[in-house]
Amino acid sequence: MSHKKIVFSGVQPNGNLHLGNYLGALKNFVSLQKNIDCIYCVVDLHAITVFQNPNELKNNILETTASFLATGLDPSKSIIFNQSSVSEHSELAWILNCVSRIGWLNRMTQFKDKAGSDKEKASVGLYIYPNLMAADILLYKATHVPVGADQKQHLELSRDIAQKFNKDFNCENFFPLPEPLIPKNISRVMSLRDGTKKMSKSETSDYSRINLKDNADEIIKKIKKAKSDSKAIPDNIKSLEERPEALNLLNIYSEITKIELEKVIKEMSGKDYSFVKKKLADVLVDEICPVGKEIDKLMGDKTHLLQILKKGTEKARIIAEENLKNIREKVGLI
Ligand code: TYM
Repeated sequence: MSHKKIVFSGVQPNGNLHLGNYLGALKNFVSLQKNIDCIYCVVDLHAITVFQNPNELKNNILETTASFLATGLDPSKSIIFNQSSVSEHSELAWILNCVSRIGWLNRMTQFKDKAGSDKEKASVGLYIYPNLMAADILLYKATHVPVGADQKQHLELSRDIAQKFNKDFNCENFFPLPEPLIPKNISRVMSLRDGTKKMSKSETSDYSRINLKDNADEIIKKIKKAKSDSKAIPDNIKSLEERPEALNLLNIYSEITKIELEKVIKEMSGKDYSFVKKKLADVLVDEICPVGKEIDKLMGDKTHLLQILKKGTEKARIIAEENLKNIREKVGLI
C-alpha cells in the first residue's frame, strides 16, 4: 500500500526569520502547496526547549505566521497552525519517546551544538527535541518534509522511529518513512561572516545574516561588509571549493536570480568583490524588502493572524485526532 503524498514542515518562532530559512525552507513550502496537501506548523513547543521570554514568544508566533503568509503561503491551500494548539503532538511525542532510543539521540549533532560544552545544564526538552519533531511529522503520516540540510539527521531519526514503531507493533507500512526535500542548489545558506558556518539566528553578530525584515540600507550594508577574500572571481566552480565565502555569495545570487551557478560564474569571472556584492545586494533588496514590508503590514492586524491559526488548528486537529486514535489502538492504550 502506498501512502497519500502529504507534506509537513515546521519553523521555530524564535525571532527574526532569515535568508537561510527563506531559501532553505519557505520558498520550497510555497512551491509545494500548488499540487500537494501541505501542513505548515509554527513549532512553538520546539522553541521553548531553550528559554523564551513569554511576551516575545507570543509575538514571535504571530510574526512567524506573518512570515509564512508574506512569502506566499496561502491558508486556503495549506494548513497553517501552531503546534501547541494541537495537543496530539505532545501525546504522540510521549509515545515516541518510548520508541526512540537513547543511543540514537546521543548521535544528534544539533543537540551537541546547541547544548554547548555544559550538556548537564541543557533542558531535557532540548535533548528529546528530535522525538517531538518525529511526532509532528508522523502525526499527519507525512510522506515528504521540506527542510534545509541542517535537519537531515533529524529526518533520518524520524524514519528510524517510524520503522521501529511499525516493527514493534507489527503494523508494517503503518507510518510512511518520511523523505526529506532538501533544496539541491542551496541546501545550506552560510553565514556572511564565516562561509564554513550556517547562517543562523543564534550567531551573535547580526551582520552574519540577512533578516526577512531588514530594510534596503541594512541589506546593502551587510552585503558590503560580508567576509570575502582578496582574489578575483574565478572562471570555474572547482576553484571556489577552497573559497567558502565567495561560493556562498555566488550561490545566493544564483538561487535568487534562478541563473545556474555555472552561468553566474561566467558572468562574474575576473570581476572583483565590489561588483559581485553590488549585484547581489540589488537582487536581495528586490526580493527581500517586499517580504519584510508585508510581514510588518500583516503584524498590524493580529486578530487576522490569530484567526488564520485558529482555522488551521481546526483543520489540523481533525487529522491529528483520527490518526492518534489509531496509534493509541496499535500501542494498546484504552
Ligand atoms: P528552524 O526553525 O531552525 O529552521 C526552519 C527551516 O529553515 C531551515 N534553515 C536553513 N536552510 C538553509 N540554510 C540555513 N542557513 C538554514 N537555517 C535554517 C531549516 O533547515 C528548517 O527547514 N527542527 C526544525 C523545526 C521543526 C520541523 C518539524 C521541521 C520542528 N518540527 C517537523 C520539519 C518537520 C527547526 O528547528 O527548524
